[in-house]
Amino acid sequence: MAPVIYDDATRTWLLHTPGTSYVLRLDDEDVPRHVHWGRPLTPESAAELPIPAPPWVASFDGAFDVDAELPAEGGAMFGPAALQVRHPDGATGVEWRYLDHSVDEGHLQISFRDRIYPLSITLHYRVFDDSDVLQRWLTLRSDAPVTVLRCDSAQFVVPRRDGYRVTHVVGSWSGEFQLRRSELPVGETVLTSRRGITSHQANPWIMIDAGDADEDRGEVWSSALAWSGSWRITVAHTTSGRVGWSAGFGHDGLAWHLRPGEEWTTPVLAGLYTSDGFGGASRAWHAYTRAHVLPHPDELRPIVYNSWEATGFAITEANQKHLATLAAELGVEVFVVDDGWFGGRRADNAGLGDWYPSPVPFPDGLTPLIDHVHGLGMKFGLWVEPEMVNPDSDLYRAHPDWVLHQPNRRRTELRNQLVLNFARPDVAAWAHKWLDALVSDHRIDYLKWDMNRAFTQPGWPTHDDPDRLWIDHVRAVYSIIDQLRADHPHLRIQSCSGGGGRADLGILCRTDEVWTSDNTDAVDRIAIQHGYTHLYPARTMAAWVTDSPNIFTARSTPLRFRFHVAMAGTLGIGANLLEWTDSDTAEATALIAEYKEIRPTVQLGYQYRLGTDAVQYLRDTEVVIIAYRPTTRWGAGPTTLPLKALDPTATYHDPGTGDSYTGTTLLTRGLPLNLPPGDHASTCVRLTRG
Ligand code: DGJ
Repeated sequence: MAPVIYDDATRTWLLHTPGTSYVLRLDDEDVPRHVHWGRPLTPESAAELPIPAPPWVASFDGAFDVDAELPAEGGAMFGPAALQVRHPDGATGVEWRYLDHSVDEGHLQISFRDRIYPLSITLHYRVFDDSDVLQRWLTLRSDAPVTVLRCDSAQFVVPRRDGYRVTHVVGSWSGEFQLRRSELPVGETVLTSRRGITSHQANPWIMIDAGDADEDRGEVWSSALAWSGSWRITVAHTTSGRVGWSAGFGHDGLAWHLRPGEEWTTPVLAGLYTSDGFGGASRAWHAYTRAHVLPHPDELRPIVYNSWEATGFAITEANQKHLATLAAELGVEVFVVDDGWFGGRRADNAGLGDWYPSPVPFPDGLTPLIDHVHGLGMKFGLWVEPEMVNPDSDLYRAHPDWVLHQPNRRRTELRNQLVLNFARPDVAAWAHKWLDALVSDHRIDYLKWDMNRAFTQPGWPTHDDPDRLWIDHVRAVYSIIDQLRADHPHLRIQSCSGGGGRADLGILCRTDEVWTSDNTDAVDRIAIQHGYTHLYPARTMAAWVTDSPNIFTARSTPLRFRFHVAMAGTLGIGANLLEWTDSDTAEATALIAEYKEIRPTVQLGYQYRLGTDAVQYLRDTEVVIIAYRPTTRWGAGPTTLPLKALDPTATYHDPGTGDSYTGTTLLTRGLPLNLPPGDHASTCVRLTRG
């Protein structure tokens, strides 16, 4: 069946993914209305389906607030507006007039124009033949000046059901991606970032279910916004039981003034319907991210050593060379020097912005260290924070007007730094120039691109439309990274924002992994990783083994436990190897070798959550199970862990112990975990189907 089918008689579009259908229709007034999102439909049944009718229409109730494909302000619409515009004569809102549509393979564009004003709106939909994820976005164009107060990418609507719940993540610095699932209140629920970055506090995805889904079964509707700046998702749950959500870039209170002829394109809001529970939804998002988001989806992520927790700002050429030698002996593949290698950066109060190797740690420049690292057979990576400046820097002394600022307002410093206004073309060009030269001149293989504070005083005094910087800053970051990648195809990039403050499908289109959290405590990480992988795949989840007791929590845990937690994602090492004992080194070397064996399954396989303290990866005939017991309770006996998605008729062999199990046993009674007694016990088991 064609991916998009149009029925002229009913003015209905039917979009297909391999396992779902999506239907929308124009009503008598040309308003695009939502009809269906869920199980597959035939064209006949799609045409038959009515637009969901409101239960009543009184003069105080909106007729179709949450049935619109894009609820625009105007008329009897009283829900959250996805599109809000103001014309110079004071008129607001949109009166839709359908123009035409086009289909290019899986890409449907439906064009409208306001009945009176020269404002064009195009709704975009894209479906794929290998994913049930549907992409949606919007382009606006006006031939006269218009003020845009809100321009979301799309609204998604779910069928009328009782008991709706919302699943999302909340957090903080060092406590990102904490999963929350709660009843969806009647009213409006807003998830947002007003910080200029994706944020640690919320992440731009939600999952909605009717209270009946679990990990393996039940309908789940979800969506994720591909954007790395401020954003807002507004979920409306009406008294009459309807549920929809509108999502897009920018937060409340911003206004953008479109110039005549300018086209305004929103980021992609992707949506997914699945009927196999939250686990099925996560696996579908992981597969979509690999197939349609990540730049190098089939490449195995290397094992990175990062010296930040080992040496902090006290970098010297000698200590980095020594660490590199030790890291190479362990089997590490990329050596990364973190903050402190440049300008006058001896602490976090100076030097940001002066991007030349500091002669204090590196009297002969970076080349001797890079040669040493390459000579050890590793790649070389470097930390950068291009969007920031310390007031105590040559850059700021030369260009105090380059930062976000407002007249008559103090410039709030956070971590002793200010935000460079990348929306300014001269600032973006400066950043691209030094980054390009740095990568070219020093044979850099990997950048850790950090961003360590939120926007404040978001002004641009010489610009007539300063709220644009919220959008244009992010677009400039994207375009610099895109250009760097195009010019340096070998370059790999980690997205970092004080840990996981910039993790989203927008940044993952152009980076290879995310620094998940600054919190490297293995116990805390279990919950962080559980939340992170609800949407994003394990191959993008950078996870370091660091020292014990942990510098954040002072908790002591065995090296093996720390490794096992990090091995559930992209393993890295951040410990101070200079202080490791021979036995630490021997144990770590063996665990790194083991990770290299399980890596294709962890990074390229399907992930199954087995509760909150165990995870299974499955790829072809290979199965990996990583399980933890962070704390023990009196009376907890030996544990067996039922596995998922195995062939019940097959035999699975554990090469570590020589044991074999039938699929049925593993699926029903489970895998014996043989965890050692006590807290912080863990295991990593590899099974091969016979
Ligand atoms: C915040 C990052 O998350 C850390 O890993 C480290 O790179 C510091 N910045 C350096 O300033």
